[in-house]
Amino acid sequence: MNPALYLSLILILLPFYIFLIRKTSKRLPPGSLGLPIIGQSLSFLRALQTDTAEKWFQDRIRKYGPVSKLSLFGTPTVFLHGQAANKLVYNCDGNTLANQQPPSIRRICGEKNITELRGDEHKRVRDALVSFLKPEVLKQYVGKMDGEIRKHLDMHWHGKQKVTVMPLMKSLTFDIMSSLIFGIEQGATRNALVELFEHMMDGLVSIPINLPFTQFNRSLNASAKVRTMLTNLIHDKRAALKQNTALPRQDFITCLLDIQSKGNSIVISDEEIVDNSIIIMIAGHDTSATLLTFLVRLLASDPSVRANIVQEQEEIARNKASGEHLTWDDLGKMKYTWRVALETLRMDPPLLGSFRRALRDFDYQGYTIPKGWRVMLASSVTHMDEQLFPDPSKFDPTRFEKQAPPFSFVAFGGGPRICPGYEFARIETLATIHYLVTQFTWKLCCNDNSFSRKPFPVFRQGLPIEIDPKKL
Ligand code: HEM
Repeated sequence: MNPALYLSLILILLPFYIFLIRKTSKRLPPGSLGLPIIGQSLSFLRALQTDTAEKWFQDRIRKYGPVSKLSLFGTPTVFLHGQAANKLVYNCDGNTLANQQPPSIRRICGEKNITELRGDEHKRVRDALVSFLKPEVLKQYVGKMDGEIRKHLDMHWHGKQKVTVMPLMKSLTFDIMSSLIFGIEQGATRNALVELFEHMMDGLVSIPINLPFTQFNRSLNASAKVRTMLTNLIHDKRAALKQNTALPRQDFITCLLDIQSKGNSIVISDEEIVDNSIIIMIAGHDTSATLLTFLVRLLASDPSVRANIVQEQEEIARNKASGEHLTWDDLGKMKYTWRVALETLRMDPPLLGSFRRALRDFDYQGYTIPKGWRVMLASSVTHMDEQLFPDPSKFDPTRFEKQAPPFSFVAFGGGPRICPGYEFARIETLATIHYLVTQFTWKLCCNDNSFSRKPFPVFRQGLPIEIDPKKL
């Protein structure tokens, strides 16, 4: 990190930091706040980079127990883990704990994006998003997703001997979302969007200092361009809906414009449509791409899981005419494949936890969590708790034949903010794995198949594999 930027950050945050830690003195959780502002940030970032964050969590838990204090990114923070903590944080009303995103997210994704909203506002916008993301509606888009996946495999996999999985999965999930969320198909506009989104995403984990040539500045510029594109898109789609040249259920944006025009209880403004289309792209495309990349790695290294998945998928393929796309019913038959995906998410969750901010002093397990402090919920620690998942290091998809205990499997979060994209992720994951295993065999071809977290897992070499087309 640039030392001048770091120094500016310290100067900006210091008064606020001192105010927060002076204000409270009693019954604070155990642990040290470390050096002012820096606290434990560097050791945590190092753990993310070396994929040892789980060990970092466990070391803390061994030293201080389930509730402890520390300082991260300039804010005094309470670290929590365990089933009870997951329940508390995910179920907490918006008067005690608020969602806490880094300030860069608000600036880049917009103030009206769902992760910034609370209470009734959050519910209203969430209802609007779910009106598109619910299974009854999404099932109509299985064919569209299927088409994007086949196009992707024709363009980037067939005819190749070697591919690099992670960037391809990111491009696939971006294409699927571009088509379903914006209704923007393959071509120059989509290519321009990919580049702008890359710049936007780079800034999400940067220091929010808006000076020429900072990463944050480039992100804000990209965000402004995306915003203009989406605002124009909304105007065009509204006009097309009026002239009946677009369908209300064509994509996410037309779906929301249709709700808007009917003026029913879920009202959503143009600005909210823009901000939430952006956050959906950001929340949905890297997470799903990460899951798919882990699945490809798993299937290259676990012959027994691979054989079971191939059997399930070939059975479905045998009952389809050549070129016929997958249906909602086909996806329902992919039970084993989805359990493998869930077990992959248990062992390698794209998100290790969540951040919130305390809106008032409150007590938890005999300690005070002071107003203004950040809460860091290491939610995925329960995934490796042997009381909840016996023999937790063993990859065993049959665990998901039964419902996991409440607030133990939290790869998609929980409570009123549980991931609304679960069904979307399920459809694209199952359909992609279907075509991959029925059309290709593959093996890992690089010694380094490790990853670091930024904060999503990023494979250091991108996960290159050698592929062979199957004879159909
Ligand atoms: C494997 C894929 C995915 C994983 C593991 C995942 C995980 C999560 C988690 C853990 C949360 C809750 C965060 C918190 O409470 O702090 C969340 C929220 C969210 N996810 Fe996902 N997600 C995935 C795919 C998607 C997709 C495909 C979409 C959109 C189509 C999406 C949209 C969202 C949105 C909008 C939120 C915020 C919800 C709110 O604040 O009410 N996600 N996701």
